[in-house]
Amino acid sequence: MASISATPLHFLLIFSVLSISSSTIFSATVVEDLNNLHPPPDFNTTIANNCKNNPSLRYCNNLTPLSLPEIFKFTVVASHLCNESKNPNCVESFPNINLKNRPKIVPLYLSFDFFWKYCPLTIMSINLANNSLKGYFPSDIFHCSQIQSLDLSHNDLSGDLPIQNFSVLTNLTFLNLSYNHFSESKISNTQFFKRFNSSSFVHSGLVPDHGTFRIKALLAFIGFPIFAILVVVCLCWLCFQRPDFLPGVFGRKQKFTPSILKAATDGFSKRNLVAKGKGVHIYKGLLRDGSEVRVEIYPMDNLSSRKDRQIFIAECRILVQLWHKNLVQVLGWCDNRRLRAIVTEWIDGEDIEMWLSRSAPTWKQRVKALKGIVEGMCYLHEEWPEVGYDLKTSSILLSDDREPLISRFKVKDRTRCSQKVYKLGVLLLEMVTNRRPREEFERGEAGLLEWARMHFPEKVLELIDKRMKKTDLVLDQATHQDWFRSLT
Ligand SMILES: *[C@@H]1O[C@H](CO)[C@@H](O)[C@H](O)[C@H]1NC(C)=O
Ligand SMILES: *[C@@H]1O[C@H](CO)[C@@H](O)[C@H](O)[C@H]1NC(C)=O
Ligand SMILES: *[C@@H]1O[C@H](CO)[C@@H](O)[C@H](O)[C@H]1NC(C)=O
Ligand SMILES: *[C@@H]1O[C@H](CO)[C@@H](O)[C@H](O)[C@H]1NC(C)=O
Ligand SMILES: *[C@@H]1O[C@H](CO)[C@@H](O)[C@H](O)[C@H]1NC(C)=O
Ligand SMILES: *[C@@H]1O[C@H](CO)[C@@H](O)[C@H](O)[C@H]1NC(C)=O
Repeated sequence: MASISATPLHFLLIFSVLSISSSTIFSATVVEDLNNLHPPPDFNTTIANNCKNNPSLRYCNNLTPLSLPEIFKFTVVASHLCNESKNPNCVESFPNINLKNRPKIVPLYLSFDFFWKYCPLTIMSINLANNSLKGYFPSDIFHCSQIQSLDLSHNDLSGDLPIQNFSVLTNLTFLNLSYNHFSESKISNTQFFKRFNSSSFVHSGLVPDHGTFRIKALLAFIGFPIFAILVVVCLCWLCFQRPDFLPGVFGRKQKFTPSILKAATDGFSKRNLVAKGKGVHIYKGLLRDGSEVRVEIYPMDNLSSRKDRQIFIAECRILVQLWHKNLVQVLGWCDNRRLRAIVTEWIDGEDIEMWLSRSAPTWKQRVKALKGIVEGMCYLHEEWPEVGYDLKTSSILLSDDREPLISRFKVKDRTRCSQKVYKLGVLLLEMVTNRRPREEFERGEAGLLEWARMHFPEKVLELIDKRMKKTDLVLDQATHQDWFRSLT
């Protein structure tokens, strides 16, 4: 800008100020000018005249004593800013601050707080859009309280919008705060912002519309409880249906639900059905922890009575406590109203009956197996006298390491001791003779006994399994057993 001649205009301080020195030449940058230019000696007179002509000038209204150097600097900045804003005639008026898309210089001008403090009253519009402005809303702008238009869109402004301060901008009719990152606040609660619609706040972080804010609040208000309820429902479902999905602390390990059993047996598929008896289906199952189990299902035609269930549960509680190397371990149970089940460890081997007929074990092997069975019986007899067991060769399993395992139990067993001994005797006889009383004798066990009695002790060789080597030891042990006598 060239030197400025004296002008009668009173509304623009800049030119009045600069008129005092007709030789003043502006340099290219405002910073340079601020450093190099100094108020002329009669600057106080110029200011005094300006204020006389136009008392509404901001620096004249100031209650604090005038600071001449500050006012001078203000005139320098105003002059540059007017020119930068491409106002058509900066000599006569300064209507717009328009620094759209000028990110290099905008922060500099915003830092001149003495300029904003005396913001020229002629300015009607401020446009600082698209300048990557960071930080809080530039509050110095509120000094220009007469503006009608303010555009701060496309910046990076953040933090709380100084909502209350806006009320000084009484003549503001255009506002654009879109594309910023202000903290969410209820601007719609303020009368001032009611005159602007949502297009002033697009992606600004602010929530102009009462409705959307309320909807969000409502969603949060309803959404959270719904979420919490869903979590609880989920947990409850897991607790009651699939406790095996819960960490061990929550799940009761011995309690199996129909859902667990269904999952373990692949939906009770035929492929997993290993045996089907009277009122019991036996499945092989695979639990989530990878262990194989045997699932005995007792389907119930009618709903079981409360008392029935209680008895069943009480019995199962005892069974899961049995712990001996010659007993199949009961892992748990299921006591659903429609489905009862007992879950035991899975034994891959065969039962004694199959073992006897298929592999013709030696005398020594048979004696070892018998010893194991007796040990299991002794444990039950001493620790759990109320628990009965099934001593049939088909009910006693052999583990991989040839350890016999008693597998069928019955709580509250009323079998008398003598009956147990009798059953053991029959088992012994079966193991020595490899005869199956229920299939080979008309009178069953009694038939087997009768047949044995006929041959004992004279024709004992007839009794002993033909496939076994009859060494002296075998004969000796077989004939000197008192057990046979006790049976008769
Ligand atoms: C004013 O702006 C014009 C271009 O718009 C420029 O040539 C000139 O140097 C500027 N004057 C000052 C004093 O900045
Ligand atoms: C301006 O300052 C000078 C001395 O620096 C003083 O003589 C003069 O009266 C002042 N004028 C006004 C209008 O204050
Ligand atoms: C913002 O300014 C850049 C150049 O600085 C320009 O490429 C871009 O189109 C502008 N964006 C808007 C929305 O004006
Ligand atoms: C708003 O405009 C009116 C009329 O143009 C004016 O009298 C008033 O001073 C203006 N308000 C502000 C804060 O400048
Ligand atoms: C918002 O107001 C402006 C005028 O300020 C108008 O041009 C625009 O259509 C309005 N937009 C909506 C969505 O009401
Ligand atoms: C504010 O600026 C955005 C982006 O440039 C634009 O989409 C929106 O319409 C503007 N709002 C108004 C009220 O002009």
